[in-house]
Amino acid sequence: MCGIVGILGRQPAAPLVVDALKRLEYRGYDSAGVATLENGRLERRRAEGKLRNLEDKLARSPLSGPVGIGHTRWATHGRPNETNAHPHATDRLAVVHNGIIENFRALKEELQAGGVVFETETDTEVVAQLVTREMRAGKAPADAVAAVLPQLRGAFALAFVFAGEDDLLIGARHGAPLAIGYGEGEMYLGSDALALAPLTDEISYLDDGDWAVLSHDGAIIRDASGKVVQRERQRFSPGAFIADKGNHRHFMAKEIHEQPEVVGRTVAHYVDLAAGRVKMPAELAVDFRKVNRIVISACGTAYYAGLVARYWFERLARLPVEIDVASEFRYREMPLFATDVALFISQSGETADTLASLRYAKAGGASILSVVNVPTSTIARESTAVLPTLAGPEIGVASTKAFTCQLAVLLALAIAAGRARGTLSERDEEGLVSALISVPGLMAEALKSEADIEGLARELSKARDVLYLGRGMAYPLALEGALKLKEISYIHAEGYAAGELKHGPIALIDETVPVIVLAPSDAVFEKTVSNMQEVAARGGRIVLVGEAHAAREAAVETMATVAMPAMNPIIAPLVYAIPAQLIAYHTALFMGKDVDQPRNLAKSVTVE
Ligand code: F6R
Repeated sequence: MCGIVGILGRQPAAPLVVDALKRLEYRGYDSAGVATLENGRLERRRAEGKLRNLEDKLARSPLSGPVGIGHTRWATHGRPNETNAHPHATDRLAVVHNGIIENFRALKEELQAGGVVFETETDTEVVAQLVTREMRAGKAPADAVAAVLPQLRGAFALAFVFAGEDDLLIGARHGAPLAIGYGEGEMYLGSDALALAPLTDEISYLDDGDWAVLSHDGAIIRDASGKVVQRERQRFSPGAFIADKGNHRHFMAKEIHEQPEVVGRTVAHYVDLAAGRVKMPAELAVDFRKVNRIVISACGTAYYAGLVARYWFERLARLPVEIDVASEFRYREMPLFATDVALFISQSGETADTLASLRYAKAGGASILSVVNVPTSTIARESTAVLPTLAGPEIGVASTKAFTCQLAVLLALAIAAGRARGTLSERDEEGLVSALISVPGLMAEALKSEADIEGLARELSKARDVLYLGRGMAYPLALEGALKLKEISYIHAEGYAAGELKHGPIALIDETVPVIVLAPSDAVFEKTVSNMQEVAARGGRIVLVGEAHAAREAAVETMATVAMPAMNPIIAPLVYAIPAQLIAYHTALFMGKDVDQPRNLAKSVTVE
């Protein structure tokens, strides 16, 4: 979404900041900026567009202070111009930000009511103004930041410098990554290890909710409750950044935890936040008013993303959907029409069956859209239009962050189709967009269920079979949860539509079979509860994943409950994917399995 860097050094910081930003430019290049302390005074240089524009500016008007922060921007709030470029500053501080402050409108109105005049359209300026207000009231910089962080909702990483404070940098992390770098009497902050690679080979990753006060001598890190904590200092070889697991034992864990960040980045790509509208790439020259049907094909987890999207296209755009796994689709000899849109979903963009289905649909005359994570892949190259997911490289063989990014793109597309077909009003669209932008924050909340899920892993690891149940959009998620568990733990797991259970699979239920019920508070919640009661009546051991009231209303004995935050049910598949992934991960981990490279599997399946 954006890249941030901070340097507390002994030599001019600006050239080092720019150098680090070059390695972060893949995160966005709408604008770039740097702020340094020049004899205690804050000075900024900012430029629209690529980093070289900032470099030109710095060449004409250099900065020499040894303390600085920098930013390369992927615009979320506000146009990509110089005014909206980071760092944002007041007379007291400058701040750079990666992520979205979801409640910025309410905070801005409150500040404006108190007489604060805003210079930019960004959400970030709210942070600068809030901290400044605390400082004007007499608080020291660190206390001011501590007072403001709990007021911010969303997923974000922040770095601050303060006027007159040449031995101070403050960083904070909530749902977006931030690393601390340790040098010889110098300290650094960066969005990732890659940014800091030439400066240091020793870093600590902040955990979610952490914030850190840096001086030339080191860092004091506190968690969200304010308690001083230690985060492991790790050595890394700069060349190994691609294979960087951060603070995590496995890529899968890292990729699960990255979801607030990468889904936020994907959402920001498809949403005009200021207008409350979805936006599609110009090359998507599909007139949805003339489309009669969407035909979706994909494999595995990507197929389940397509199954969720079927509900969205049918409900929001009133567009009939035909969907099949790619290995069947291509042999069905399905008739295709020029009024069809054929949609292919793939993380790798190289899956052989999906590619073959694409070629079949192309030959049949359908318009070809693809949702892919690797923009240079064959599927991307052979599509009429590509809707990229911005998940970044997915290394763990079990797909996690690619799945939720696929869902984010597909929901945005369904909203765009609904608007074009007149099945959604402008107001409907605003409501859906606001639900979509709440996803990263809700995912960060859902990740807090990890400790409970860890506790559950021991019980699940004893099972021979596990069932997953869901209704409506939670049904494909039940299929995905079961796939995740079976592929990395090798426990036999099946997903069922909760209402289908009594037509056969209920015969499997006894006290040895854990039944994981995914029960978002949607229109079919009560029916899911009835199905859960049928399972309980037969001695099934239920793990209920739902909002706090779900367990109370269900009034059945559960083996465990996994608490989810309240949300608009339309986005529940994105958020409920997190506990489904964590259940699989912790169970496999407890069983000592090779989580990142499960047996018999490969990341990219280029054979039929
Ligand atoms: C499961 C998983 C696979 C892939 C499938 C399609 O965790 O990763 O089921 O989803 O092989 O791969 P892509 O998306 O690369 O086409």
